[in-house]
Amino acid sequence: MAISVNTLTQEIHEIPNNLDDSAVIEDFLSRHSGKKVVAVQGLGFVGAVMSIVCANAIGEEYAVIGVDLANENTYWKIKSINDGAFPLIADDPKISEFFDNALAKGNFLATYDPVAYQYADIIIVDINLDVQKESDDKGDLKSFDVNLDSFKKAIQSIGENCQDDVLVLVETTVPPGACEQIVKPIIESELAKRDLALDKYRLGHSYERVMPGPDYINSIREFPRVYAGVNQISADAIENFLKTIIDISKCKLTRLEHTNATEMAKVLENSYRAMNIAFVVEWSRFAEEAGVDLYAIVNAIRARPTHANLMYPGIGVGGYCLTKDPLLASWARKSFFGAEFDLEISVSGVSKNDQMPVFAFNRLVEVFGDISNNRVVFLGVSYRGDVGDTRFTPVDTLVRMVRGTGAEIVLHDPFVSYWEEQKCAVRSDLAEIIESNPELIIISAGHSEYKSPEIMQKLLESEPTKIYDTIGLLNYEQIAMLQEKHIVSVLGRGDI
Ligand SMILES: NC(=O)c1ccc[n+]([C@@H]2O[C@H](COP(=O)([O-])OP(=O)(O)OC[C@H]3O[C@@H](n4cnc5c(N)ncnc54)[C@H](O)[C@@H]3O)[C@@H](O)[C@H]2O)c1
Repeated sequence: MAISVNTLTQEIHEIPNNLDDSAVIEDFLSRHSGKKVVAVQGLGFVGAVMSIVCANAIGEEYAVIGVDLANENTYWKIKSINDGAFPLIADDPKISEFFDNALAKGNFLATYDPVAYQYADIIIVDINLDVQKESDDKGDLKSFDVNLDSFKKAIQSIGENCQDDVLVLVETTVPPGACEQIVKPIIESELAKRDLALDKYRLGHSYERVMPGPDYINSIREFPRVYAGVNQISADAIENFLKTIIDISKCKLTRLEHTNATEMAKVLENSYRAMNIAFVVEWSRFAEEAGVDLYAIVNAIRARPTHANLMYPGIGVGGYCLTKDPLLASWARKSFFGAEFDLEISVSGVSKNDQMPVFAFNRLVEVFGDISNNRVVFLGVSYRGDVGDTRFTPVDTLVRMVRGTGAEIVLHDPFVSYWEEQKCAVRSDLAEIIESNPELIIISAGHSEYKSPEIMQKLLESEPTKIYDTIGLLNYEQIAMLQEKHIVSVLGRGDI
């Protein structure tokens, strides 16, 4: 029996043996005749939210079918949606509002059956495309590669089923060149196999900066978009579709001349962010050596509009995108466009960022000495504040290194109850954890709960302990208050 576990709730679901869902899809569509059908391929952090944005479109009533795979890691998302529970936890009230609205209208169905693409007017590709990295135990990147097999298979499942006048909109972050060199030939070859017209389908690429967290929905609906089509009619069709889901009174649509350009824009945008973080890493070390507070320095510099996005120091870069996108770009440069060299600065920036948790550990040992007999509490395992996403979280490396000393580990996160990558439970009873008087508290994610006055009060009332803030969550006033009782160190804040 194949099973799929919902990591948010630990619920276990049996994966159906019969993967023919066509009767369910036809029944769903019979209740929405006359509506355009949008199929969203991939029900992850982007696709699940994109699906409910489409189900609550601004200028059109769509019937939305989300498609994911029926395997042990993903089937629970399909089951969860059809059972009326959204598969992600995020601190944005609009998520439940949009999902509840879709449930009330009954215009959102999830399935594992690619037959859904047969009915779709518009297919949005929101699947993952991973980079395989080889690094040493310090996080130093030794090599990387991009295996396109799963991506090609996913596009093939669209080509095998879609209508000949479908609009395919790729939102997956792809190596620049992918729509032209990978997606287009697959779609055309599959249409040709079915003797369908090759001049009616429309294809393009568009990207957003989906920001899981308190503005999750608006990061799709009210955020500037860049798009391009493989030809003029494709670009026009994408523009018309985007205008039905994005509030263009609040944000701008920008058309670029070629899908190569939008694909490059996406990875350049993320690479710029990743480089900005990597750049501040060495300054963080310098600040610690010089005994100065890099947060205060960055704040002083950020007051000038020209430097307002200089990054703060921190525990490292996590999440699915910044840890891979510069590498996707570099890989494409060599594999699709024949360049001899990598995007060297971008690649080395990823490597620097991957080493940040190792620096965080070294600094911890430097400041606090031997922690092998300590009970160590981590406040936050997610890579980002107010989000339950542990993919490539830098906390992972730090936890492993602290555990390696022999210290006992206690993990807390309000958004993660089970840490898939570490295969362990994560606690949510923060007050109790602090009351249990751990010897070391590491602040490792910027969740709002950790900034609350109640938690500060609990920390002030607890037995003297060591507090290590790796993300600059504590302000000066809080540090000063805590230092009256505890030993406090903040990564990047020099001597304090
Ligand atoms: N997470 C973000 O904030 C963000 C922002 C912008 C862009 N992106 C990009 O969007 C894409 C998706 O990211 P994500 O965070 O949602 O990833 P994810 O891993 O959370 O979700 C991807 C989903 O696609 C599914 N999938 C894979 N192959 C499939 C197939 N053949 N058919 C149907 N479903 C399939 C997977 O099972 C998974 O559920 C990535 O390219 C990412 O880089 C992500």
